[in-house]
Amino acid sequence: MKNKLFCFMLIALLGLFLTTGCASYLDLDKSDMSNTSSLDSSYAKTRIGVCIYQLNDNFMSLFCDELVNYLVSLGFSEDNIIVFGSSNNQAVQLTQVEELIDRGVDALIVNPVNSAIVHTITDKAVNNGIPLVYINREPSADEEANWEEYDLSVTYVGCDARQSGIYQGELLAGLGGDTLDINGDGAIQYYMIEGAPENIDAGFRTLYSLSTLTNSGFKMDCLLDEVGNWDKATSKLITAKGISQNLIPEVIICNNDAMALGAIDAVKEAGLTPGRDVYIVGVDALPEAIEEVKNGTMVGTVFNDYIGQSHNAADAALRYLNGEENEHYIGCEYVKVSSSNAQQVLELIQSSDTDEDANVEYKQP
Ligand code: BGC
Repeated sequence: MKNKLFCFMLIALLGLFLTTGCASYLDLDKSDMSNTSSLDSSYAKTRIGVCIYQLNDNFMSLFCDELVNYLVSLGFSEDNIIVFGSSNNQAVQLTQVEELIDRGVDALIVNPVNSAIVHTITDKAVNNGIPLVYINREPSADEEANWEEYDLSVTYVGCDARQSGIYQGELLAGLGGDTLDINGDGAIQYYMIEGAPENIDAGFRTLYSLSTLTNSGFKMDCLLDEVGNWDKATSKLITAKGISQNLIPEVIICNNDAMALGAIDAVKEAGLTPGRDVYIVGVDALPEAIEEVKNGTMVGTVFNDYIGQSHNAADAALRYLNGEENEHYIGCEYVKVSSSNAQQVLELIQSSDTDEDANVEYKQP
């Protein structure tokens, strides 16, 4: 981070522009300001192992870069931050966790491939006395209850995906029925493009975006509901196929921005104009998506605060390394992004990124 002040400004200003703030992040931010300087020298030899479910996921790659840069800014050596991309394969990820343990890492930060392998990863870390921070994909309630019950040095850092779904619904509802119901038939024909099966973020975003619209009085008419695996190219194919079958949507709700960007490409190639013939929303606030919001191609997106989450994950690992405790759930707020605040959000995100150019070699299996 250029400095903590920028993060404070980001949150404070977003709070002014928007209706929400980042309370949990602010709290952590203040609490670790006092001991940051003492970390610089003491962490140079500490080894951190990181596993990311898939490194070519647009959002996780931003998250991972920020995590590494932030750790370096805290005094970690790039040589001692080992990052594995798990190729969305649970067997690969388990092997990587074992390898990291064998290589003597002092703490683990894991973005699990799925919740089914979380228990095994926890066992491996706990049995070897290694603190563990899960990120982005929330483990099951039973799993989290175990951490509490047995007082394990294991926590989860993430956001409540229900909020992002609600914000997507609100962004669309804010346009009003006269705008959304392009063909005037009294219902909104829509596509839902989902992230991944059994993924909590995907499930909640799907459910809550839709229920927000129906609770606002819209009659929703689903033309297509498919899994796009968080991926731009897959979403483009799904959208193109739907349109070619003459399923013409008024709205496309995507569980993330990468898939919204794919939908935009397909809509354009079909000769339709996004923002006029079809209204598209995503989640994450990827820089490319913010540009689409600014030029009216996307109705809006929802900032998935990878800066706050990656810093919270690193700070939680540090607390464990210092012999301190963490809550077993460390949350974060989403932020609604529409054309009225897109430019400010973009500038604030850019000014809050940690700008060290860490040159960590990512290990692909
Ligand atoms: C993000 C997606 C990302 C997924 C990975 C979600 O929170 O919004 O963009 O692909 O996490 O698990």
